[in-house]
Amino acid sequence: MSDDRILVNPQHLAEQYSTDENLRVRYETHQLYTVGAELEPAVDAVLQLDGGESLLDVGTGPGGFPARLIDGGHRGRVVGVDQSAGMVAKARATCPRVEFFQADAAALAFADESFDAVTARHMLYHVPDIPKALGEIRRVLRKGGRFLAVTNALDYMHEYFDAIREAMTLLPKPLATNVAELVSRPTAAAFTEVNGEQLVREAFGNVTVTFLESKLVFSDANPVVRYFDSSRTMKGLSVEEWKEIERAMRRVVESRVKSGPWSVSKRVVFIIAHRARCADFAESRNGQKYKIGICEN
Ligand SMILES: C[S@@+](CC[C@H](N)C(=O)[O-])C[C@H]1O[C@@H](n2cnc3c(N)ncnc32)[C@H](O)[C@@H]1O
Repeated sequence: MSDDRILVNPQHLAEQYSTDENLRVRYETHQLYTVGAELEPAVDAVLQLDGGESLLDVGTGPGGFPARLIDGGHRGRVVGVDQSAGMVAKARATCPRVEFFQADAAALAFADESFDAVTARHMLYHVPDIPKALGEIRRVLRKGGRFLAVTNALDYMHEYFDAIREAMTLLPKPLATNVAELVSRPTAAAFTEVNGEQLVREAFGNVTVTFLESKLVFSDANPVVRYFDSSRTMKGLSVEEWKEIERAMRRVVESRVKSGPWSVSKRVVFIIAHRARCADFAESRNGQKYKIGICEN
């Protein structure tokens, strides 16, 4: 397991996403404390949907994005899949007009070329075999269809991760040695504008990357600590270990906000690709992929 893969432990993910509770804490934090450009209008600007497309949202969580599309008058078929049964139950209860199914991104139970558009928002970094998932996404896209992955940039919330690293230096030695790397590593490290762009290019043969910049501004430590706590189960740490870690994090954040509002910058990445309209790729013996035929991307 490479360093970027330490955050995909299936048991920890299952616990983290058994319900939408942890995600809800993070959504609320972003809603209440973001200053600057908002995510959803930027997603719409990138996707350029005309309302008639069939769309699949992979790793949909509680289904907020498909629900927003349908509520906004989208006429085409909208489907959301998530590997968590709890998320699917929540999504179905919240938006009965969208089709929601439990599925792993790496095994999508849809026929080839079923959708005009596929989205995977803040989820590919959780997938153990990202090339396999991208292969599935490409397979279920019709030729000429578009794919959008949303993820976090390498420097996303770097001031927050610096604070976590500082908190790790305040921990008793044995605990710090065991958890520092795990706790301070951004969740999205396995799929950023760098390795994510490369993986999507390999799967689709074309890729465009754009960014959305904004910031979180905090005047007290409580919302930051609450946000931090929402990731405990993702790291697989016990409540006892976490209490110690949380105390250290609170001390660091309190020192940040003491002298005035604390800004944490956010750079979200949009990775866009199209399924080409031709046979696309032939694979050579050494694993390199070459385009064949005349392709319209
Ligand atoms: C950070 S949440 C993002 C939810 C939603 N897309 C959003 O942007 O708000 C990640 C979601 O991906 C789901 N997930 C993780 N690994 C998955 C996989 N291999 N296949 C399908 N869903 C997965 C989790 O259950 C969780 O609901």
